[in-house]
Amino acid sequence: MRPGRKFIDEFRHEGLDETSSTNIECFARAKAGETGNLWVTAARQTGGRGRRGRPWVSERGNLYASLLLIDPSAPEQMGSLPLAFALGVYRALRTVLPTGGQPLEIKWPNDVLIGRKKTCGILMEAEFLSDGRRAVVSGIGINIAHKPDNPAYPVTMLSEHGAPCSPDELFAHLFRETASVLEIWNRGQGVAEIMNAWRAAACGIGERITVNLPDRSISGRFTGIDDNGFLLLDEDDGPSRAIAAGDVFFGGT
Ligand code: BTN
Repeated sequence: MRPGRKFIDEFRHEGLDETSSTNIECFARAKAGETGNLWVTAARQTGGRGRRGRPWVSERGNLYASLLLIDPSAPEQMGSLPLAFALGVYRALRTVLPTGGQPLEIKWPNDVLIGRKKTCGILMEAEFLSDGRRAVVSGIGINIAHKPDNPAYPVTMLSEHGAPCSPDELFAHLFRETASVLEIWNRGQGVAEIMNAWRAAACGIGERITVNLPDRSISGRFTGIDDNGFLLLDEDDGPSRAIAAGDVFFGGT
């Protein structure tokens, strides 16, 4: 960073009206030589992508934003980056939601919930470029005015919670809060501070949960998150485990 410049000044933004996916746009720019720290937003996506290959319905009125980072940290620090983004989204939503409403919380690893219903999803994807650089794209979808029909999990949108802001207004908060969180994260060196803030915003710590892994489900008590962003589970009649990836369901069986 050049002397006298603030960290937030390192980030740029390109707003599109329509694209297939803002994540795909970021990768295309990276392949064309983009140096990173670029946000791409779109008013509408025609091929929005969710986690596990699911589509992300992307009508006008919600926020669709992706941030391209190039080589954001050493590979061993990368696991905490999605959690840092969830914290940035959480702080942006806290600024637009009225006080006294249903609880705003983060669900491991990086969904943001209002009243235990999903209002934001984050899809992080990474690719090596031909010159060996690593392009990391964090795509964020926030339900403002629309939510999916027939979802597989409970969903909500900001307009149901007295926060009918525009996608542009919400993006301005997201831009600022994400820069602030990434400055603290400091290429992974500040992960402990991020994790402490993440734990304070997390839902379900201490509760019984079921975690769906690719090959099976395990249930137990959710005891916390370690400083790598792994979920800590005391498995029923089994060991304590640190889990890197999975889908969490509260309650369990
Ligand atoms: C999830 O399944 O929870 C993650 C959803 C991520 C959706 C966002 S919208 C902006 C960006 N572009 C995409 O195609 N996906 C992400």
